[in-house]
Amino acid sequence: MNEYLSANQSLLAVTDQGKSLDGSLTGSSLARQIAFGVLRHYFELASKVDCLVSKPLPEKNADIQLLIMSGIYSIDHLNRPVHASVNACVEATSDLNKVWAKKLVNGVLRSYLRKKEQIVGQIQADPESVTNHPQWLISRIEAAYPDQALAIFEANNVQPPMTLRVNLKQQSREEYLERLASIDIDACIGKHAPTAIYLSRPVAVDKLPNFDTGAASVQDEASQLVAPMMDIAAGMDVLDACAAPGGKSCHILETFSDINLIALDKDKRRLERVKENVARLQLNCQTVADDLKTFEPPNQLFDRILLDAPCSASGIIRRHPDIKLLRRDTDIAKLAETQLELLAKAWSLLKEEGELIYSTCSILPDENEMVVATFCSENPAAKTLSIDAQWGVGSAHGRYLLPVTGSSDGFFYAKLKKQTP
Ligand SMILES: C[S@@+](CC[C@H](N)C(=O)[O-])C[C@H]1O[C@@H](n2cnc3c(N)ncnc32)[C@H](O)[C@@H]1O
Repeated sequence: MNEYLSANQSLLAVTDQGKSLDGSLTGSSLARQIAFGVLRHYFELASKVDCLVSKPLPEKNADIQLLIMSGIYSIDHLNRPVHASVNACVEATSDLNKVWAKKLVNGVLRSYLRKKEQIVGQIQADPESVTNHPQWLISRIEAAYPDQALAIFEANNVQPPMTLRVNLKQQSREEYLERLASIDIDACIGKHAPTAIYLSRPVAVDKLPNFDTGAASVQDEASQLVAPMMDIAAGMDVLDACAAPGGKSCHILETFSDINLIALDKDKRRLERVKENVARLQLNCQTVADDLKTFEPPNQLFDRILLDAPCSASGIIRRHPDIKLLRRDTDIAKLAETQLELLAKAWSLLKEEGELIYSTCSILPDENEMVVATFCSENPAAKTLSIDAQWGVGSAHGRYLLPVTGSSDGFFYAKLKKQTP
């Protein structure tokens, strides 16, 4: 199938039906590259089309608009002959049963080739086009991180590296690096997490040494910082309250021995992924499909709880560029309400003197710092413990990492202890 047609179908699923890109990807690696690329540069590409057409294309021709955006993306970013990209876009109009649009697509793309510099100049004053983020998110990121905002926008628009977590139960990180080198997979160690390895180029997981028997997993370095901060001792009862697909549950099991871990998630289908990952890594835990809000463990409170809460995912936009189109400003308050509710429920399941880690892959203070601050103000027994580390930045109630090009995702971590009254 024409790659531009495949990419068009994936992009329409996001922009018209509000579906996630991950669930909508089809076609070859080029089709995927185009779909990811168009979403990473969406605002800039849309503005360029606006400059090139005499009047905006109507809603019913959103597919043609996306096709033109895909063509401009290819001209700007793909290392392939320009005429091949233009021709493929023009051809895709037939597959869309819109032969009338051939002339339009061809004309607009050729016009872009002629006027590229002028068009780039025309959109320079528009913050959405320059940052490739929606205005509401620009405002929130600029307000929270005035000095780092530009670097965050830039990092969010670049493909992230492929990062591995080495299973130290099976081998050391150095041994795994050597095994990678022996099959010509270029890699280096992470700066923050003792388990992290960065690959120079992404590879299929079945090419990784002993992946199927659990030697390593794919996980961003920011996520790899959670398990080691849980301070778990043998014999403890541990709850991973939002566990699927199981990245952090598995890391907890790789890091601490002889513990009783329950991996809970309300999404049955995603919980299957936890089971698969636990089995592949040759680990063991109990999985429970239930809503944390109503979960009642039989006669049991927990020594340690991880609440890796559902969030806007604003720290992992580089992996999920569709977030920039799917999320709305009004989602943030609703998410914060849910996060506070989940935190209160998880807290009720924690033993006295127990510790709870609250984490999200969001960089927005309303979902992080503010949630923990509100919770602590309403719960005098909750004491935030400082997370002493060489990485990230400490805040009043936790620690955060911002997304960095070539390095980790954006993340927030807070550690709460339940003091005996
Ligand atoms: C950020 S993801 C967790 C990622 C996971 N900790 C990992 O490292 O692989 C959030 C998860 O919370 C789950 N979730 C959302 N609301 C929940 C609830 N009320 N009860 C239990 N799980 C919930 C979602 O299904 C989703 O799998």
